[in-house]
Order: sequence, then C-alpha cells, then structure tokens
Amino acid sequence: MDRIDRRTILKSLAVMAAASAFPACGDSDVIVGTDAEGLARFPQGVASGDPKQNTVILWTRVVNVGSSPVDLPLRLEVALDSGFNQLVVLKDDLPATVAHDSCIKVRVKGLTAATTYYYRFSFVQGRTRYRSTAGRTRTAPDASADVTVRFAVANCQDYVGRYWNSYQQMLTAAPEDLDFFLSIGDYIYETTNTFGTAAGARAINFSKPSEAIDLGGGNLAAKSVGNYRDLYRTYRSDPLLQQVHARWPIIATWDDHEYSDDCWGSTATYFDGRKNEKDDERRRNAEQAFFEYLPIDEGAPGSDPQIDVFTTERAQLYPNQKLWRSFVFGKHLEMVVTDYRSFRPDHPVPEDAFPGTVVADQATLLAILGQAAFDANFPPGLAEYIDVDQPEQSDLKSSLAGIATAGAMQEGLSLSDAFAWAQRVIRGKLAVLVVNQMLTAANQRPISADGLERGLFYALIGKQSFFSRYGSRYVVVKSSYDLYTALLYAKTAKASENAFGTEQEAFIVDKLAKSTATHKVLISSVSLVSMQLNLTGIPGVPAQFARAFYFDVDQWDGFPNKRAELLGRLAGVQNLLALSGDIHGSFAGNEKASSPKIALLTAPAISSQTVGESVGEAVTTFSSDPAFQPGGAVYNALVNGLPQLFQAATGGALKLVDTSSHGFLTVAVDATKARATFTFIPHGEVSTDYSKKSAAELQAKVTTAAFDVAGGQLTPVS
Ligand SMILES: [Fe+2]
Repeated sequence: MDRIDRRTILKSLAVMAAASAFPACGDSDVIVGTDAEGLARFPQGVASGDPKQNTVILWTRVVNVGSSPVDLPLRLEVALDSGFNQLVVLKDDLPATVAHDSCIKVRVKGLTAATTYYYRFSFVQGRTRYRSTAGRTRTAPDASADVTVRFAVANCQDYVGRYWNSYQQMLTAAPEDLDFFLSIGDYIYETTNTFGTAAGARAINFSKPSEAIDLGGGNLAAKSVGNYRDLYRTYRSDPLLQQVHARWPIIATWDDHEYSDDCWGSTATYFDGRKNEKDDERRRNAEQAFFEYLPIDEGAPGSDPQIDVFTTERAQLYPNQKLWRSFVFGKHLEMVVTDYRSFRPDHPVPEDAFPGTVVADQATLLAILGQAAFDANFPPGLAEYIDVDQPEQSDLKSSLAGIATAGAMQEGLSLSDAFAWAQRVIRGKLAVLVVNQMLTAANQRPISADGLERGLFYALIGKQSFFSRYGSRYVVVKSSYDLYTALLYAKTAKASENAFGTEQEAFIVDKLAKSTATHKVLISSVSLVSMQLNLTGIPGVPAQFARAFYFDVDQWDGFPNKRAELLGRLAGVQNLLALSGDIHGSFAGNEKASSPKIALLTAPAISSQTVGESVGEAVTTFSSDPAFQPGGAVYNALVNGLPQLFQAATGGALKLVDTSSHGFLTVAVDATKARATFTFIPHGEVSTDYSKKSAAELQAKVTTAAFDVAGGQLTPVS
C-alpha cells in the first residue's frame, strides 16, 4: 500500500468517528492476549510528547508477529485512570502503516489542562485483542496556573556497549513526579561504533548494512531510511527507555547525531573535507525516522474533533521542516526549543582549509590592531606571506600546486580531486612558514621571508594539516580564531555565524522577549558555556602550545560573535535560563563574570563518552610531542586539571564543572526560583547493567549538586 495522504486519513477518521459506537461493541467474543503477547506486538512500547493544555501526541509501533508487515488498524484508548474505566477517548481503525515502519503518531485533542491521562493501543487478530503496555502522560497546566513545574533533562544516550543507568536512576529517584522530560539531542548515534566501545550485548546491527556508509574499521553510519529506523527500533527496545517514555511525555529536539556527527545542514563531516559530504536525501532519511519515532507535534489540526493522525511527508522534511517551537506550562515557565543543526553555516575554518591561506592581510590587521599589537601578534619570522599570483612567482606557484596535489593524494584523494583542491587553494597570498615547510619536505629550496608583509593565516588558528578536524572543529587558538571570525562576521554581513537561520532567530528572540512567564528557558542542543583550554603559564608546556584554545568550535564557541549578539539581545529578559547538552559534561553558571546574567546549565550525557575522556583522546592524537602523551605536561594539565582549566577560563563565572560523570538534570520552577539538581554517576559505571542489580547498588554510586537560579544568578543549595 502506498503512503496514505494525511488529508485522506483525516477524512476517513471523521467518517469512522461518526460510525463507531462508544463504548466499544463487538468485543464480546474476543479474548485479551497476555502481556508477553502484547509486548511482542508492540516491542518498542508507547510514548507521548509535546504536551499542551488541551493536546498531547501519542505514539506506538506495531509488529505483525509471524507474518510479513501489513498496515494494521489500531484502537486507541485514553482514560483518566490506569484501569481504563473512565475512558475519554476510544478510537478504532487508526492506521499504523508499513510506509511509516508501522509507527503511528496521533494528536489527541480536547483534553483538560494539568491532567494525568493513561493510554494504550491495541488491535484484534483472529479472536485475540493484543494490547500495548499502558502509558501515562500529563497535559500542561493552564497559562495562568500558579503551580510548580518539574522536568528532567536528558541528552546523548549512546547505546553501543553502554547501559542507561542514568534513566534507571531517573525512574527510581525522581524526587517528585515530573511534568515531562526534555531530550535535547543525540537521542540516537548514527553509527555502529561512535566511541570505540566494545559492543558486547549492546550492539547496532543494520538490517541492510550495504545501504550504510562505510567509515572503515567495521564502523558503519546510517544512510538509508531503513538504517535510521533500525537505530530507533534498537534504542527503543531498551526497557528503561521504554519505561521513561511510558511514564512522562517527552519534549525533544535534535542535535547532530540524529543525522550525522558535527553536521551542518545536510553536510556530514566524517571525511574532514576529503570529499563532498552534502547529502540532502540522507538528511531527509534521518529526519523521516526521527519524526516517525518521536512523538513530536507536526502540522496543522485536522477537522476531527478528537484525533489527528500524522504521516511524515517527504516534502515536509529538510530544508522545509521547522522543529523550533515554544511551550507554556502555567504562569512560571515558558520554553523555547531550538534547532541548531539544520540552518547553520559551515564551521568558520573548513576542514579542508589550506594551512597557508591568508585570511587577513597586513593592511587589514594594522587597521584593526594598530602597529604595536600587530607586531606583537604577527612578528617577523612567523607571519610573512607571499602572493603566488604575481607573475614572477609562477614557478613557485606550480611547484606548490604539485606538492599540494601529491599531499592530498597521500590523504586519500584521487588525482583529479587532489589536483582540483590544489588549484583552489594554491593561489593568492600564502604564508611563507607553510610554503617553506612544503618546499623543504619536497627537497626544494625554501624562499626568503625578508621584507614581506605579514598576516593571519589558517595555521595560526591551529590548522596544521590539509584535511583535519583539528584547527577546524576542535582545538583552535582562541585569540586568532576570535580575530578571524570577527572579520568574517563583518565581511559576510553576519552570515558566517547565522546559527539558527534568520526566521528561527526572530522567533526565539520574539518569544523570549514577549514572554510573561516567571522563568524563560532557551533550549539549545549545544552549550553556550565557553570551553577554553588555557595552556599559558603551565610549566613544561612547549612554547608553541602556550596559548588559550577553544576545545570545541562545533558548539557555540565556534560562533562567538552571534553568541554575544544573541545574549545581548536577550539581556533584558528577566529570569532567563539556557539549557544545553551535547558536550558530555556538566556546567552551571554564567558565560563570564561580566556578561548579562543569563544562567547557563549544561546537562551531563546519559551514557556517551564524557568530555574528560574525549579531551584525553584529543590530546594524545593532536600531537606526538611527548608533552601531549600520558605523563607529559600538556596531558597532565588537560586531562587531570580539566575542570579547573574550564573554570579559570570563565573568570570564575562557572559554579559547577564536572567532566567525568554521566547522569541527568532535573529542574523545578516556581514563583521565586528555578531549582536545578544535577544527578551524577561516575563514567566508569556505564559498562555495568545496573538494571540487573538492586536499586541500592546504583544509589551508592550517585551524587547530586543543586542550585537555586533567580535573576540569572546561581546559589548552591546545601
Ligand atoms: Fe552527544
């Protein structure tokens, strides 16, 4: 059967609503299957999401056990009690279609605010009615209600070889019941092995691996819609995640891994610029599975008074989708949920940037910095450049193009791709430092830098090789990155850092500025906290590395001008809180001591490799210099002193830095404050399945830290 047109479904529902009696009839000769039979037919459980005052989205997926997949008509029951005696909705013939992997997603309308509902799906086969597990959900309080609202924040839940003890703790220890939970990115990871963890029992197996992208070393990345559905099916097979979904409605946004690591728009970054990784169809495949499996409200209401059935249409997907939206929960909370990934531009330093390319010449830098600062930052012997497009440099230019072509081929490019890349980058003003490194390596005579102008080039920002994430997305020199991005921001009329896209940014600022809620919450998948590694003044650090670096410019540190502008535009918003994830560490505080008082809270990863572990890996990979290897000065400063480094770089504006724990965050907002409580589990526990142990054994590993947030200021709660 072909995909059902959404309007057709709405129309047929209206007919069925008129025809179906209430309560159900014709069930008298049907027996109800066992729980185990139900679980086999609804193996991913149920879920609810996007709760509003009068609506909520309900979800399940059905399996036609023992037979090939067919479209199945489901019954939905929604009740005020867990025994399903006080039914408020009973609908039959809701279509779970093969075209959508037998998922069904409906919007239930006409509900009462601040009310707990129970729901389940079922269908009849033969003489047996098979039921899903029952879920619980809750509508949002009325916008005028003076009530405390509680929610949890989850993100980054890599499945492979990792157990979701964080969710177990959330389920057993949520201090009071929650109104909803937020999932703010990396709900799935798109590869079979993201963090190099031995898979063991928790492995991803694509049913059609030939459709995936081969990343080498046995690691595959999802590409087809089938690959992405395999991921959601596997992730949602976890009993703990099913329990979380069955207990609380979810409000979700995506980050990169719902599509592809460190993506921007439809462009992936696996090959660090060695090939064109823009793939609109792959992005739409990822989004299709995301919308099929997550109970996110989509589309306008239909004419049926009770139920709308969603079908995720291809034309609604990238670049036409709008995941950003806002939620009001009583008079004390308004949340704006954003999408950082779909409309953002490339990383300001592309992965294939030629290290010698000059991005600011002497005249430009002198005009900005003045002579003294220019000489200090771009001294003779370091920063000279030569214009290889001058007629007298034609021999040099062709030599360099040949060396660059050979170098790119060594990096895995074909001759024609390597040649084309070299033609593109070996032109204009190039740094003598880099030119001479290339000439020397090719046994050619270096050129003289005497008397040449000086400027800023990619190597001074940290780009050391032709195709690399280092110096591009990770580990850039802060001072030169700040200078470069400021120039680029002005030159491109701000397009270089247009992280949200113009339409979304206008929505965000407008919603937050006009909100009358006591607390306004901005949900950004990636953290607004600056993560700087300042290696100056650390004994034993080699001189060329004694600088301050941004660790990760895939997140907001990559767009420092837009971040400052955005926080400035929001400076007048009272009680503004930004919630983020992505970085697999916990932070609480302000951007800097002097910045507008906007509280920044970054939640720990549910299970993904912690930032402490990632920095350790990056340090040893970044340089083979002994200082960067275990026991060396850089390694010790970065790996053993990471929280202190992060804290120092913000001038003490951070009240909490934890780089080695998994866990989650809970927030309770009322008329006077938002209380944020971090729950931590040491990262080493992630390979242990605590669902097989007693609750006390996990509890013994847990620590917490809490803050009261008001007026953007954080006060520790003892
Ligand atoms: Fe993540």
